[in-house]
Amino acid sequence: MKILAIESSCDETAAAVVEDGRRVISNVIASQVQEHKIYGGVVPEIASRRHAEAISSVVSKALSDADMTLEEVDAIAVTYAPGLIGALLVGVNYAKGLSYASGKPLVPVHHLRSHIAASYITHSDLKPPFFCLVVSGGNTMMVKVKDYTDFEIIGRTRDDAAGEALDKAARAMGIPYPGGLNLDRIAKDGKDDSYKFPVPKVEGCPYDFSFSGLKTSVINTIHNTKQKGEEVNVQDLGASFMRAVTGCLCRNTEKAMLDNDQTTLVLAGGVSANSVLRREVEVLCKKHGWKLYLPELSLCGDNAAMVGSQGYYEYLAGSRAGLELNAFAGMEIDK
Ligand code: KG4
Repeated sequence: MKILAIESSCDETAAAVVEDGRRVISNVIASQVQEHKIYGGVVPEIASRRHAEAISSVVSKALSDADMTLEEVDAIAVTYAPGLIGALLVGVNYAKGLSYASGKPLVPVHHLRSHIAASYITHSDLKPPFFCLVVSGGNTMMVKVKDYTDFEIIGRTRDDAAGEALDKAARAMGIPYPGGLNLDRIAKDGKDDSYKFPVPKVEGCPYDFSFSGLKTSVINTIHNTKQKGEEVNVQDLGASFMRAVTGCLCRNTEKAMLDNDQTTLVLAGGVSANSVLRREVEVLCKKHGWKLYLPELSLCGDNAAMVGSQGYYEYLAGSRAGLELNAFAGMEIDK
């Protein structure tokens, strides 16, 4: 079964054709990063406009790269939540138009579910159940993936997402957008024990995360250093901060896995591209003899291939939408 998938939840306009949830036939991404860079972050109104300009050509290219016409696809999958509402609406409305014109079924896909599905594309042997650490720009959570369309939230951030904390810390250090990615590059050779950070804990909820204290701490460190007339060593501070964030992610993950007798861990979301996090979860899984599945780097960020993968499983589970389909800025993964 071949699915045409569309993604426009943030600042990438993307379309792909995916066969049976696992084989990517085409995968096109039009990134707006350069445009948002001058503002230091994504400007929602600009994102919506650029999606509206790009979507038609991106979808056409996905079909032509796959050497297919719309008539030859079996269904259309689209990201409908969560994300920037104006951005989501562009993809949702375009997909509705295609579905109406072609008579092909329309399948709504949750953005974070599709981030998890990136690992179905990367690893042909991966099947639920497993535990997944979802780490993206807007969300951080530990999810039990009971089946392809059955999720249970085990733990979540109480404040900032890990990606958000990395982006804000990068910004405070004067590192240009996209902060998390650039911080990872710049801090590669930094000494990760140069600066000390608190160890966040959410009392009574050992699997929940908190990153706002770490974010405040790094901003205070920068201010204090500057007030003393000293220079911030961005490499060392960045490496120490990444270690603090990934340490928090790994500690909670280890506890959640052990307490729930889990032996398979999957990483998902933009921050799963982080070199320190990838290394640390590998060490963790080796220590316990757990199987680890990391999405390939090209599928960590927003893309439509992962939407086509998850869309296939949503289709098999009977999920369909009509022309009344709306977009939602917020939606739980287990709804
Ligand atoms: O999943 P994603 O592409 O978008 C959302 O759905 O939120 O995640 C974007 C987040 C941003 O916060 C970005 O800074 C972060 O992923 N990110 C990274 C890296 N690459 C992207 N953070 C740390 N290290 C990276 N290599």
